[in-house]
Formats: sequence, structure tokens, C-alpha cells
Amino acid sequence: MEIAVASAKIEVVQGDLTKEAVDAIVNAANETLLGGGGVDGAIHRAGGPSILEECRTLGGCQTGDAKITTAGRMPAKHVIHTVGPVYRDGAHGEPELLASCYRRSLEVAVEHGVRSISFPAISCGVYGYPIPEAARIAVGTVAQFVKERGGVERVRFVLFGSNTYGPFEAALKSIQ
Ligand code: AR6
Repeated sequence: MEIAVASAKIEVVQGDLTKEAVDAIVNAANETLLGGGGVDGAIHRAGGPSILEECRTLGGCQTGDAKITTAGRMPAKHVIHTVGPVYRDGAHGEPELLASCYRRSLEVAVEHGVRSISFPAISCGVYGYPIPEAARIAVGTVAQFVKERGGVERVRFVLFGSNTYGPFEAALKSIQ
């Protein structure tokens, strides 16, 4: 499904992030930026070794921040690597850090002329964030950014399975 927010479209789809033909896809990475499992592993496999070579020069990335590389062999032009919080109990800054991932990714995107961007469900895999709450933060932060800052035309949430698609769709419906 998709909705219009200010001059942008926000979409929720089920699919594989590595196949997205957009200006930038966002990687749910870890602070080393040197690869891992989940969507991070899928991105490095699909994009090839040039992404890791670039990542090695970036000096890691703090939780809640974002850094950009090219996308190697993938159809996207860039990868924006962000680091979500590991979920403990929600009282250790997790909501603020997760919101910061979406906001910083969009800021880096706009700085690099990115008009279309696709996100995964950051922190919703290995990092254990409760999905409905993560979905509300993700959709709310993106909607606020496009209203207040603009600069991007299309923001897609590309969810791998129905366990994430449903809550993200519900979160998008709730802000309509
Ligand atoms: N396309 C879209 N979504 C995907 C794909 C894909 N190809 N593959 C997995 N997902 P996770 P995290 C979904 O664990 O929780 C890595 O090892 C997946 O189903 O990838 O932020 C990093 O290096 C889930 O809904 O990221 C870090 O160490 C979502 O992507 C750590 O995992 C995120 O799951 C980060 O953990």
C-alpha cells in the first residue's frame, strides 16, 4: 500500500531489498560496518566485494548514525548503512536510537541527492525490536521528516515476510 505525505509517497511492500531499483537502499548493519547476517549479509552477497572495501575506509558507524557507499552490482545506486539499537527493554534509549536511524539515513540521502530510498525493518531481526513498536517509530519518523524537511520523493519500506509487512502496513494506515 502507499500514501501521500506532503510531496512524497510512502510505500509498504513485501519483497527483497537487494532487488530494489532505487537511488538508495538502507542496510541494517552493525557498528563495525564489516558485514554480518540478515539483510546485511544479503546486501554484501548481492552487491559484491566493492561495498566491503568502501566500508573498511569508513571507520565504523555509531548506533543511530548512517554512512553511505555505492551499491556494487545491485540495481540501487547507493547503500546507506545505519546501525539500529539492540532491543533490551525499551528503557535504554532504543526508541530514540531507532528513530535516529531513519532520520540520519534520510539526512545522508538528501545530502547525496537521493530521491528514492528503500528501508528494511531496522532492528526487527537479530536485534529483537518488537515489530509493531518498531513499525510505528519507522513510519512516524519518515512521515515527520518528509513533512518538515522534504527532499525525497519516494520512501519504500521493503519487508521480507508477513510478520513485518502486517505491522508496517498497520502503522502506515494509522497515519493516513
Ligand atoms: N530484504 C528485506 N528485508 C530483509 C532481507 C532482504 N533481503 N533479509 C532480511 N530481511 P536483521 P537487525 C529482514 O537481522 O535486527 C546483522 O548481522 C529481516 O527479516 O537483518 O537490525 C548485522 O550485521 C528483518 O525483518 O537486522 C547486525 O549485526 C529485518 O530485515 C544485525 O544483523 C532486519 O533484520 C542487525 O540486526
